[in-house]
Amino acid sequence: MNHFLDIHKTSADDLRNILIHAREMKIARGDRAKGAPDDSQPLAGKMVALIFEKPSTRTRVSFDLGVRQMGGQTMVLSGAEMQLGHGETIADTARVLSRYVDMIMIRTYEEAVLLELAEHATVPVINGLTNRTHPCQIMADIMTYEEHRGPIRGRKVVWSGDGNNVCASFLHAAGQFGFNFTFTGPEPLDPEAVFVAQARAQGVEVTIERDPMLAVAGADLLVTDTWVSMHDSQSTRERRHNQLRGYQVNDRLMAAAKPDALFMHCLPAHREDEVTNAVMDGPHSVVFDEAENRLHAQKAVMRWCLGL
Ligand code: CP
Ligand code: NVA
Repeated sequence: MNHFLDIHKTSADDLRNILIHAREMKIARGDRAKGAPDDSQPLAGKMVALIFEKPSTRTRVSFDLGVRQMGGQTMVLSGAEMQLGHGETIADTARVLSRYVDMIMIRTYEEAVLLELAEHATVPVINGLTNRTHPCQIMADIMTYEEHRGPIRGRKVVWSGDGNNVCASFLHAAGQFGFNFTFTGPEPLDPEAVFVAQARAQGVEVTIERDPMLAVAGADLLVTDTWVSMHDSQSTRERRHNQLRGYQVNDRLMAAAKPDALFMHCLPAHREDEVTNAVMDGPHSVVFDEAENRLHAQKAVMRWCLGL
């Protein structure tokens, strides 16, 4: 049994094998209907709890669908409906859920909740986003890059905007998959120094460049995300918009990257804030492939967690 808690906590070999498996499963499905079962039903008889303390479209639907395609069943639980945070410890919740279900996916606020759940659960726990990281998203993103452009090793990925949870998982992936990473954004919104140091310690180049036009020179992939994340107070909205406006991904910035550079966004996007409609809907954009690949990548993550 394996937990999938973060990209840097899973070995590089396992990450690579998960992506190979994801690709094989995607191809094997071909163009059958979304609700049609996979040929292989590795999750038959298994129950998976999907816990959401924050809203979700992609994570919720892709995990639920993925489990069903593989023959399992899901229980979608909202944090508000559970006893989480109402006095019962996370450890006790983990012990109880482990008696009922075969695997737990959780989207929560504090990373400590995820870690405590994983420490005390006797079934695999998957990180479906915390305030600090979003590993499942980045598995889908690496899969998407490689489907379009081949191996990501040695490529230059540029993140423009807020150094948030999705940016953190990209930094973890830089170290594990061997690509170089440039962050461009305002200093107060830099990614955590520990994430930068971890990637550098794994031998990849991590650059912080305040000028977005300089940052994107030679970029193979340009990525951004919302300027206000779910855990950010709405009272910071105006300040964040003012700090980040200069980091919008628009035609001018995209044109300063390599001609065949891709554009990614985990979604949901705030069109005309962090990215323009022209880029979102333009020829560089692979945002809906990323969304689709959440399904395939997470199916492979779940099988790895269960050793199936
Ligand atoms: N990208 C992503 O995780 O989307 P949701 O918040 O809709 O799950
Ligand atoms: N950074 C965003 C990602 C949403 C998928 C958030 O945490 O709200």
